Amino acid sequence: TLPAASKIYKLADFRTKRVRVSGWVHRLRQQKELTFIVLRDGTGYLQCILSGILSQTYDALVLATEASVEIFGVIQEVPEGKTAPGGHELVADHWRVLGAAPGGDDAYTNKLNAESEGPVVADNRHLVIRGEIASAVLQVRAGILRSFRKVFDKYTITEVTPPCMVQTQVEGGATLFQFDYYGQVAYLTQSSQLYLETCLPSLGDVYCIQESFRAENSHTRRHLSEYTHLEAELAFITFDDLMTHIEAVICEAVDDLLLDPRMSAFLYQLNPKFKKPSRPFMRLSYKDAIKYLNEHGIKRKDDETEQLVDHVVGDDIAEAAERQMTDQLGVPIFLYGFPKEIKAFYMKKIVGDEGFTESCDLLMPNVGEIVGGSMRIADMQELLEGYKREGIDPAPYYWFTDQRKYGTCEHGGYGLGVERLLAWLTDRFTVRECSLYPRWPGRATP
Ligand code: 4AD
Ligand code: MG
Repeated sequence: TLPAASKIYKLADFRTKRVRVSGWVHRLRQQKELTFIVLRDGTGYLQCILSGILSQTYDALVLATEASVEIFGVIQEVPEGKTAPGGHELVADHWRVLGAAPGGDDAYTNKLNAESEGPVVADNRHLVIRGEIASAVLQVRAGILRSFRKVFDKYTITEVTPPCMVQTQVEGGATLFQFDYYGQVAYLTQSSQLYLETCLPSLGDVYCIQESFRAENSHTRRHLSEYTHLEAELAFITFDDLMTHIEAVICEAVDDLLLDPRMSAFLYQLNPKFKKPSRPFMRLSYKDAIKYLNEHGIKRKDDETEQLVDHVVGDDIAEAAERQMTDQLGVPIFLYGFPKEIKAFYMKKIVGDEGFTESCDLLMPNVGEIVGGSMRIADMQELLEGYKREGIDPAPYYWFTDQRKYGTCEHGGYGLGVERLLAWLTDRFTVRECSLYPRWPGRATP
């Protein structure tokens, strides 16, 4: 009888035993009578040694990188002085090709290699994800989402799944994807925040991991048209509680990720210099940040004159300036207390300094903003004024306004861009590498 097919990651438990493994030919090398295959099954890599069997059979002829194969043999510890993934290898006694893969121009390694240009890489994302780097990023992505869920569970914060098709905006009308919904205007959600707020009296503190959509014509390293948004909303908290919570959730999720030896190996493979951030994170007020920029000669471009000029209080700090400052400081930074004019309609104002809001962005070195959060306006009248200031018709927001009518409370929350967090964690150049099938202006395939 045949042994059940084993997952490569579990093979350390099967040393000296005969196993059957199935997977894809990751690397192929022929050396005299021996054929070496590094087999990949998504859980790991296994070196397989095929001897004296690579004759002119059909299977031998179609054996190529990315072919799927089934191999039988004994798992042996690798002899001293030799390395192999996992510290063991499979000495095959029988094998067959299950699905052939092309050679020539269509061969995987000809299609995709270090020389491949951007559009080729983008068009072949379905093949790129078979690679060691891309699949490691996706593994870390799965791992950190799992860890976040564990941390939220520990704090009794309940997961919900808000809708993606909505009729309200959250972060400004300019970045809405609009579509026809049975004859009505509807949008793809920019943020699930408003829905999370309505869940507080129902479920208590809540979070979601949901796609958000932004029609931003930004061709940058950190903008996607569709991204995974991890958002949470907490009742009866202060602004200080909010920042402490964000910092705790991120640090504890990273700690949890690194406790998993597989995840830790993927992370350090991608980012050998990764260091866990130390707590508490630096907190820098918006006003002090403006001072910092001016003291360090970090300028902004004046819209009218196109000249480089100093920042003044009230300015929106542009991506380039924010990045320069974050990279100089080299640590995670909570930038807080933004002017109300540059922030969303729902944000609570600082008592005694009403031109500014209880809002915060978390900035990470090499990426910039990965989290945006704030305390929310709890007072109904003040919210109505917020709609007015932003020119928002309050009618479609009746359910959000009702939140202030039926037992309002102080509350706040945040949204974390999962791809941006991953770009920081795994040291990727762009968020496009951190999404399974990234979307950006002009790109919605594969
Ligand atoms: O700062 P943002 O726009 O805040 C909100 O949407 C709030 N309503 C969230 C909340 O309080 N529940 O977006 C939050 C985060 C940003 O910090 C960034 O990490 C990410 O979402 N983000 C994007 N990521 C990739 N591509 C884009 N185009 C993004 N826009 C925002
Ligand atoms: Mg933001």
